[in-house]
Parts: sequence; C-alpha cells; structure tokens
Amino acid sequence: MNRLLVTGGAGFIGSNFIRYILRKYPDLRIANLDALTYAGNLENLRDIEKDPRYSFVHGNICNPDDVAKAMAGCDSMINFAAETHVDRSIHEAGAFVDTDVRGTFVLLEAAKKYKIERFLHISTDEVYGSIEVGSFKETDTLNPSSPYSASKAGGELLAHSYFVTYRLPVLITRSANNFGPYQYPEKLIPLFVTNAIDNKPLPLYGDGKNVRDWLYVEDQVEALDLVLQKGILGEIYNIGAGNEEMNITVTKETLKLLGKPESLIRSVKDRPGHDRRYSVATEKIHALGWKPRHSFQEGLEKTVQWYAENEAWWRAVKEKQAAYQEWYKKHYG
Ligand code: NAD
Ligand code: TYD
Repeated sequence: MNRLLVTGGAGFIGSNFIRYILRKYPDLRIANLDALTYAGNLENLRDIEKDPRYSFVHGNICNPDDVAKAMAGCDSMINFAAETHVDRSIHEAGAFVDTDVRGTFVLLEAAKKYKIERFLHISTDEVYGSIEVGSFKETDTLNPSSPYSASKAGGELLAHSYFVTYRLPVLITRSANNFGPYQYPEKLIPLFVTNAIDNKPLPLYGDGKNVRDWLYVEDQVEALDLVLQKGILGEIYNIGAGNEEMNITVTKETLKLLGKPESLIRSVKDRPGHDRRYSVATEKIHALGWKPRHSFQEGLEKTVQWYAENEAWWRAVKEKQAAYQEWYKKHYG
C-alpha cells in the first residue's frame, strides 16, 4: 500500500483515522476526498493539513470526475463518506440514498476502472436492525429500520456484489456506535456533553432504555487499519466493543463526569422506528487480532475531557447549526 484514498475524511471517524494512519505509517501517502457537507470540517484535520504526505480534494463521491481526480495514483481506498444521522434521514431521506447508495456505486465503478487493490467500505451494525437478546453474526439477514440504515444496507450490498461479480477486492466492516473527539454534536454523546456544559436540557427519547454498544473511536480506527491490511477479500467484519449501555445510563454518567444535575434530563417523544438494541458478535474480528482497549467509562472520560478542552471547536460547529436552523425556520415556517 503506497497511496490510500480516504473518502469522507473530514468527518468524525475519517479524521481520526487519517491522523492515526499518518502517525503509524511514515511512508504512506493519503488523498482525502470530501464534499464538506454540514458534517465535514477541515478544522478536524488542522494539525496534519501541512503534512507533505497528505492532500485534500474537495469533491463529491457521486461525481465520477471528482472521484477520478482523487483516485489517480491510489492503490487502495477506504470509504467513510456518507450521510450518517438517523434523525436527519427521517426528516429528509433523499441525500442518504444519493450518497450512501449512488455514491458507493460511483466509487465501485471507479475502483474497478483504476484497478484498486483493496477497497474497505465502512458500514454499520444498524443494517441488521434491532435485536432483543443475543448478537448478530455477519451471516445474519439484514433488516434495517431507518432510511439511514436502509441506505447503508443498499451501499454495502452493492459493494459485496462487486466482489462476487467482478472480483473487485472489497472488504466490509459493520461497526457499533462510535464516540470520541471530533464527533459532530448532533449524535447522542457529543450533543449531551455540550448541552450539559451549557446547562441546556438533554432531550432523551422515549423511555431512555434503548441500548447501544459504545466503541471508542481510537479502538475503531485500529480495527479498520487491521481489516484494511489483513482482512480477507470479500469478507464482512463486525466491529463491536462489548460496551452495551442504556441511553439513560450514558446520560447519567455524562452528567456525573461534568458535575451537572440530573434535572437537565428532558424526556421527549420517541424517535419513529427507534431500534431498541444493537449488538454484534465479534469473534471474527477478534480472530483477526483486534480487541478494544477502552472500557465505556475510560472512553467517556476521555471524550468529556476533550469536549471540555475544545470548546472553540464545538461552539463554532453549533453556531453554524443555529444559523442554519434560523434560516430554515424563516424560509419554510
Ligand atoms: P460524519 O457524518 O462525521 O462524516 C461524514 C463525512 O462524509 C463528512 O466529512 C462529509 O462531508 C462527508 N460526505 C458526506 N457526503 C459526501 C459526499 N457525497 N461526497 C464526499 N463526501 C461526503 O460520519 P462518521 O460518523 O465519521 O461516519 C463515517 C462512516 O462510518 C459512515 O459511513 C458511517 O455510516 C459509518 N459508521 C459510523 C458510526 C458512528 O457511530 N459514527 C458507526 C458505524 C458506522
Ligand atoms: P445517535 O447518536 O443518533 O446514534 P444512532 O441512532 O445511530 O444509534 O443516538 C444514539 C441513541 O441515543 C439512540 O437510541 C437515540 C438516542 N438519542 C436520544 O435519546 N436523544 C438525542 O437527542 C439523540 C441524538 C439520540
């Protein structure tokens, strides 16, 4: 592997991945193709942007010309680019179908044309849908509930079909809920940490007993590096941390770490189609040689500390969001 194309590298996991890879592999060059949607932020990469091994291409994965430009000279790639927030997919699903399905198709076609040697496609544990007891294996049927998870399922099924039909060297991961530095403050943990710092309410959906498996982003990027290097082509790997917690527990732990009162918790109506619990079997990724290093508590402490120390980063992001919401209200009522 000499030159790696990262798509969606200006987002949360992608930026953490780029930082990790540049530190670990001194000879590897990286091209980052990102459309800089509301979730993309070049501040996430400020510390490495001048590294001569790194280059940024502003473009869209749905545009074959942008993809061809970014892919030139690359021998491998990892696709993070996606619309990622379930609530936004409920509000407006079109962008999810465009990027998560059609964008993946454009990348696959280009990878075929340019003879990419390893193509890691990042999917999610949400493609399985909800599970009351036990854990989903990689061979289990997909049963996605939201427009987000359905679009992710579409994208990864297409990716797998390119392995079966064209022998394109595809690898797929299905990861649990990530958390850590640089996560956009619309997702549960960064939203609640930043609201709590400002003594604003924490809107907890439904009864707060939905369960997610919380994977610290540093553990995630180590697993992705391993799959990219050593994964068997055509295979799918679940990546879970075994840190299953109810949302109410996550919320109370967050408040405790910040020394804030539980009276900030606001019960709100439930998310439509809200999956009760996600859980994946992780024997396959363990057999490849990965285990998470962080317990939920350790990851949460590091995350809360990062947001407490990086107020300028998230205040700028939240301000932009507020301006957009105001504009939206004014224009659409
Ligand atoms: P994110 O929303 O923080 O970042 C997404 C990035 O993709 C942004 O930089 C955005 O600008 C870019 N992007 C969006 N549409 C694009 C397009 N059409 N062309 C080019 N770039 C585009 O997302 P994240 O949380 O870092 O997630 C990364 C990947 O991991 C996604 O594929 C997501 O489905 C998957 N995943 C995320 C989680 C999680 O908990 N965050 C869990 C499992 C899987
Ligand atoms: P989220 O971070 O949106 O991730 P996902 O839906 O992809 O798992 O939400 C995590 C859990 O937290 C999920 O059960 C929904 C819940 N949640 C709230 O209760 N309130 C909120 O404001 C948000 C954003 C999420």
